[in-house]
Amino acid sequence: MISEGEAKLLEKLGDKWVNARELLGKKDISVVMSTISWLEKKSLVEVKDNLIKNYSLTEEGKRYLNEGLPERRVFDMIKETGRIRIRDVPPDALKISIIWLKKFGAKIENGAIIIEDKKRVNEGIREHEEALKHVKNLKEKEVIKNLLRRGLIKERESVERFAKINNKGSEALKDYKEKGKIVTKITKEVIERWQDYHFKEYDVKMPVRGTSFGRKHPLRIIIDEIREIFFSMGFEEIRGNFVESSFWDMDALFVPQQHPARDLQDTFYLKRPSKIKIDNKEYAKRVKLIHEDGGDTGSKGWQYEWSYEEAERALLRTHTTVSSIRYAYKNREKESFKAFTIGRIFRRENPDPTHLPEFTQIDGVLSEKDASLAMLIGILKHFYAEMGFKNIRVKPSYFPYTEPSLEVDVYYDGNWLELGGSGVFRSEVTHPLGIINPVLAWGLGVERLAMLRYDLKTIKELYVSDIEWIKSCKLI
Ligand code: PHE
Repeated sequence: MISEGEAKLLEKLGDKWVNARELLGKKDISVVMSTISWLEKKSLVEVKDNLIKNYSLTEEGKRYLNEGLPERRVFDMIKETGRIRIRDVPPDALKISIIWLKKFGAKIENGAIIIEDKKRVNEGIREHEEALKHVKNLKEKEVIKNLLRRGLIKERESVERFAKINNKGSEALKDYKEKGKIVTKITKEVIERWQDYHFKEYDVKMPVRGTSFGRKHPLRIIIDEIREIFFSMGFEEIRGNFVESSFWDMDALFVPQQHPARDLQDTFYLKRPSKIKIDNKEYAKRVKLIHEDGGDTGSKGWQYEWSYEEAERALLRTHTTVSSIRYAYKNREKESFKAFTIGRIFRRENPDPTHLPEFTQIDGVLSEKDASLAMLIGILKHFYAEMGFKNIRVKPSYFPYTEPSLEVDVYYDGNWLELGGSGVFRSEVTHPLGIINPVLAWGLGVERLAMLRYDLKTIKELYVSDIEWIKSCKLI
């Protein structure tokens, strides 16, 4: 049984070979080709493929088509006299014109080019000129060979498909015309009176062309996975700005103003804006006291004179913990809160296989009455287990804003890899906020996680626009 499209195509075929391109009509070549394949599969047509050579002009060929061939220029100069001294030939035309004029019958004698049979030479040149003009329909083998050698045309091979109908095909077509249309689309009417119709059969083994769909970037896939995990633990997602004040990025986190991380070597400070005003003067004053001598917390602080000016310096955020502290500030009067943020951060690192000056962190904070270190470790273990890393360990570490502080490592491929830091905010951080409940916080690298999941050797691979990789990469 054949479909309407197949019948139409069969009707156009006879018992002589027809080039498939001539069957196009309004249809796309791929539709014609696949219909022919179907018909061939059903043994209703004969098909043969011919290798066809196509020619087109090279850049040089195009130039000569416009400006004339060098031998033509020289020939024009000696049309009358039949001779020219070699030293009178324009140097740029000399070499090429001698080769070809000679080939077309000219002689070189006593330092001159001599043409006796002008007609013959002219014919030779004309043949090349005509060939350049009609490069699409070149037939003459010798001319093609010459022009290819001269680099004036190039050759491309393509396959052309020819088809003709056979006996079985003619019968199928006759049958089709008697029985009526084959249905390829199911409509209400067809369903109601299905006995009256013939349906197109499907061949599920028929090869089809592969399709590539748009897809998320691999890093984005990981980020969305992380978001799902924190959403499922009841966290809310927060966002922050790339440009921040030192105050929020560091001072509010009890990082002393002479801390090495604040150095120009490590942090991108900004010229514009160069300052960001501190919005809550009351809070800033409490931060100042804590830094200077611990205020009324029992801490001694860092024992130096805290400067507003330094705190107002604008920078590109060096960690997403800045969003966590801003969030804690906003929610300081709540009994409990929990939030996470994922975003780009900036540090003056020299790029190497595991470092870039820009990368992504996932930061989280949680505060409630019974929050504890054990709870923090539980959250981190749960998070990494959900990401596919069952084996993690924590080690004592140091951050100016947490006590105790923990480093988080995951076990992968025989090694322990450091993926982030965490801890319980010090009272020097929570006291100026007026928060009494413990606040758990963590900040973890996202790219390293992605490198492990996608088995990458260098972090850079995540940022080069290699479409093939993006299409094919699979999570492991
Ligand atoms: N901000 C730290 C970093 O960038 C990680 C961290 C976050 C540590 C929160 C403790 C608490 O490495």
